[in-house]
Amino acid sequence: MKKTVLFIALLTCLTGCSGLSKLDFWTLYDRAGWQLPEQVIESLNINLGDHVADIGAGGGYFTFLLAEAVGPTGRVYAVDVDMDITEELEYLVSENGAFNVVVILAELEDPLLPDGTIDLVFLCNTYHHIIGRRVDYFSNLRTDLKSEGRVAIVDMKDDLTGILSLFATEGHWTPRQLLLTEMEQAGYRHQSGFDFLPIQNFEIFSVN
Ligand SMILES: C[S@@+](CC[C@H](N)C(=O)[O-])C[C@H]1O[C@@H](n2cnc3c(N)ncnc32)[C@H](O)[C@@H]1O
Repeated sequence: MKKTVLFIALLTCLTGCSGLSKLDFWTLYDRAGWQLPEQVIESLNINLGDHVADIGAGGGYFTFLLAEAVGPTGRVYAVDVDMDITEELEYLVSENGAFNVVVILAELEDPLLPDGTIDLVFLCNTYHHIIGRRVDYFSNLRTDLKSEGRVAIVDMKDDLTGILSLFATEGHWTPRQLLLTEMEQAGYRHQSGFDFLPIQNFEIFSVN
């Protein structure tokens, strides 16, 4: 409790800092305070009926928001490589009655998505987990996307300073330039980027 109060007090002292002034400091200790999930979903421009893949879905933080966005005629593939996680996701899917969510236990180098069907691939805090042949991973992923398909990547910044550096965990980030370079090497075009997330880069790529 003391730590939380100290943390908030420190943040409050820093409200003059330009990058921080957009934030609601009283909620920053909570993920929604820095993850801004509604703004992320809105920025993705998802249409009802879209097929979206949430690669590295984890606890489903974004999976169920994506499921709402695509609606009952759409589909969300919740992809993860950890069997405990996919079993928990299966449970959450049935608990929430989210019948437009399909859980996939993927392979490290292949999300096992159906070819040519995906409108949007979304990754949050997962890009840095895909280690090894990352350019090959995203190059192969192109076969799963429709011709107008997109890939949206949200991943921790590597250059957090001041109070925001408290959020950084060594290695759990990707330098923005590396992300842009690798995705270009994998055959994507950088379509847009957003700077409203305080501790993460948020970039969108298209296949053509
Ligand atoms: C930090 S969690 C992010 C979870 C979720 N996206 C979120 O924002 O809360 C990263 C997840 O990626 C998964 N993961 C790691 N490597 C992966 C891979 N090659 N393909 C799919 N998922 C992977 C991990 O099992 C873990 O659940």
